[in-house]
Amino acid sequence: MTISEDATDKICLEETWRPKRKTFKADLITDQKRLVRGEQLLAARTALRVRDEQHHREWRVLMLPGESPAEEVGAIRGLMPKAFIVAADRVESSLLAAAAVGVDEIVQVDLEAFEKRGVHYRPPAKIWALGKFDLILMDLCSNVNATMRRLFRIYFEKALTPNGVMVFNFSYGRDVAEVFIALVKRYPETLPLIPDTVRGRLLYLFGGYGAIRSVMTYRGAAMPMCSVLLQRGSWTGGQYSYVACEPGDFELAVTCPDPAIMYACPAERIEALRRTNGALKAAWTRKLKGLTDVKFCPWCGLETENEFWLNPIQGSSSRQR
Ligand SMILES: C[S@@+](CC[C@H](N)C(=O)[O-])C[C@H]1O[C@@H](n2cnc3c(N)ncnc32)[C@H](O)[C@@H]1O
Repeated sequence: MTISEDATDKICLEETWRPKRKTFKADLITDQKRLVRGEQLLAARTALRVRDEQHHREWRVLMLPGESPAEEVGAIRGLMPKAFIVAADRVESSLLAAAAVGVDEIVQVDLEAFEKRGVHYRPPAKIWALGKFDLILMDLCSNVNATMRRLFRIYFEKALTPNGVMVFNFSYGRDVAEVFIALVKRYPETLPLIPDTVRGRLLYLFGGYGAIRSVMTYRGAAMPMCSVLLQRGSWTGGQYSYVACEPGDFELAVTCPDPAIMYACPAERIEALRRTNGALKAAWTRKLKGLTDVKFCPWCGLETENEFWLNPIQGSSSRQR
């Protein structure tokens, strides 16, 4: 078989070619990723609530912003309003975007530039100096390899508070599958709910860690992805959940045809809540745009220009007048 000159060029190019680092923009965020992000954040909040026996605390969150961090920061703020959010990335523009959407601290750092202390390694000095985190959202989206495994171990062991939570996302598809197949055969009884394609990768990355609580597979922009939630110091003893997202799951989650059944809430109450939230959102958007000086009734949350609502005592006396 002869290889044409073009083809030879291509082979040479492929051997030396390294992919240019892509920045992670909003259009690369799939709906399935949004669903998984929301579900894992909810699960992380539950785990931290159980740990701290408190609804909300100033949980310290480490996240990787990417180029469009508004969604993720919004989700964290929505679920954990008191959180102290640190955005770490090696790309400056991602950090500027994170600062613009109101994270508490930004750090430009290569998360893999570990610091050697004797025979051990720990996270880079810039991260180490910030103290430990209650929640680390390790959304690197890289494929499974030795660096990822090392990165997981160092951050899980050295950067989390006791019983802290980590969400670790990885892609699978362009890695050396044989490595994982061997592990699947060696440990046939570990993580039995999970299909072998994913199970082998989990065994490789998280091996001896019995701390896995939730595994979700989903469609990323370019590749199949897996999101794993682990909690330090917890031994789940086989109690973990596994969800494979299907097309349409996101739409179903956000527009469930009958939320009254899903949340066991009367349909009229859901309607009333939707109206209130709609009005509140519209008023808030206008306020942000600076179009009007909108005021809110502190009891019903609705927009009002009526002083009565702003101060009931003053209001009632002015009504009496
Ligand atoms: C997938 S994006 C994050 C997306 C974001 N979490 C979201 O949901 O929209 C991954 C980010 O991690 C950053 N990143 C990847 N490897 C890194 C490393 N070793 N050190 C620091 N940042 C890294 C990339 O620059 C990119 O901004």
